[in-house]
Amino acid sequence: MKNRDDGLVEKISALKKRRNAVILVHNYQLGEIQDIADFVGDSLELSQNAAKTGADVIVFCGVHFMAETASIICPDKVVLLPDVNAGCPMANMITVERLWAKKEEHPQAVVVCYINSSAEVKAESDICCTSANAVEVVESLDAPEIIFIPDQYLGHYISTRTGKKMILWPGFCPTHVRIEPERIKELKQEYPQAKVVVHPECRPQVIVLADEVASTSGMCRYARRDDVKEMVVGTEMGIIHRLRKENPGKRFIPASEQAICPNMKLITLEKILWSLEEMSPAVKVSERIRLKAIAAVDRMLEVKSKTKDQKPE
Ligand code: 13P
Ligand code: SF4
Repeated sequence: MKNRDDGLVEKISALKKRRNAVILVHNYQLGEIQDIADFVGDSLELSQNAAKTGADVIVFCGVHFMAETASIICPDKVVLLPDVNAGCPMANMITVERLWAKKEEHPQAVVVCYINSSAEVKAESDICCTSANAVEVVESLDAPEIIFIPDQYLGHYISTRTGKKMILWPGFCPTHVRIEPERIKELKQEYPQAKVVVHPECRPQVIVLADEVASTSGMCRYARRDDVKEMVVGTEMGIIHRLRKENPGKRFIPASEQAICPNMKLITLEKILWSLEEMSPAVKVSERIRLKAIAAVDRMLEVKSKTKDQKPE
């Protein structure tokens, strides 16, 4: 007998074919969404996949800035975000007007914009980065001053890795700040063999305790290493599904059970089906903003990968 979800999965799959759609899914999505994906990945990989897909429709299972990035890269495709309320609070911690004011204070500065930002903010930035290529992007710049927006903790981490002095915007991820250094210390005692791997959106007090700092897909690659049998996972809980699925027999311990991004959890199978039926809600960046934002995204995509964190799957 088929369960309710099986029916939904079959309907989504049939409609996906009819619409010539592809389902791109972020590593934090619910397990059942990851399981129907054409591709699961981090922000950089999802942008790269959007850039090369031959599909007419992209169903983006992630948050708003990710769907906007796909629309910036693929203006001719329909980009669906099955719940239009799936935003990123960190991306909302900066506005174009406040960025203009900061640029006026530092007229010589280059603006590096974390991909977790609106299309309007990208349009006012010189180059984008993701957690997977941020260090290389900043290293590639020959600038007297760098304004890094909007994540102060990612910015701080990059400055420690590159030695570059950066002007940091005071934004942060409300989910990653729930990861506490004291809890990591307890888990290290409890699981002395475990490797501690954290996302660079974590606070510096957490980052110093880690064996590795990586993007979400960087964490998935690290977990496959033979010397990793147990891993304390310092990021959003949704990634545990992929880690366990890809590494049976290994142990994955969340660094915090509270590290849940409610926006990422807004996407459901029902909403994906509805969205493919209605071809809505579609995310479309205006051509005026897109033409400015694409320059910053393209500059990022041109920075060649030198680190293991960016090796393709
Ligand atoms: P990744 O690019 O590492 O997947 O991170 C995206 C994100 O939103 C982290 O909170
Ligand atoms: Fe934004 Fe944090 Fe959610 Fe990532 S986990 S989408 S940075 S709120």
